[in-house]
Amino acid sequence: MVDRCVCHQVMLSEVRDRVAALRLAGVGDEDRLVETLADELGCTTGCGMCEPYVRLTIRTGRTGFDHREAIVRAVLAEG
Ligand code: FES
Repeated sequence: MVDRCVCHQVMLSEVRDRVAALRLAGVGDEDRLVETLADELGCTTGCGMCEPYVRLTIRTGRTGFDHREAIVRAVLAEG
């Protein structure tokens, strides 16, 4: 189960909560959200392996993913 950015120990639940606040502040674009989360929390700025999961959290609000799930495989295939 993937539930965090391992490099920076940022939980996806923290990502979800920050995304909610950013959306209330008017930040809605997914790429801009990822950039802001990177600046504020550090997630995606190390090895980058968490980025698909951060994007899935942004898209779904979920905070845990099994890498075998179809939705995860689809996002991973986006590159
Ligand atoms: S796991 Fe998030 S940057 Fe490495």
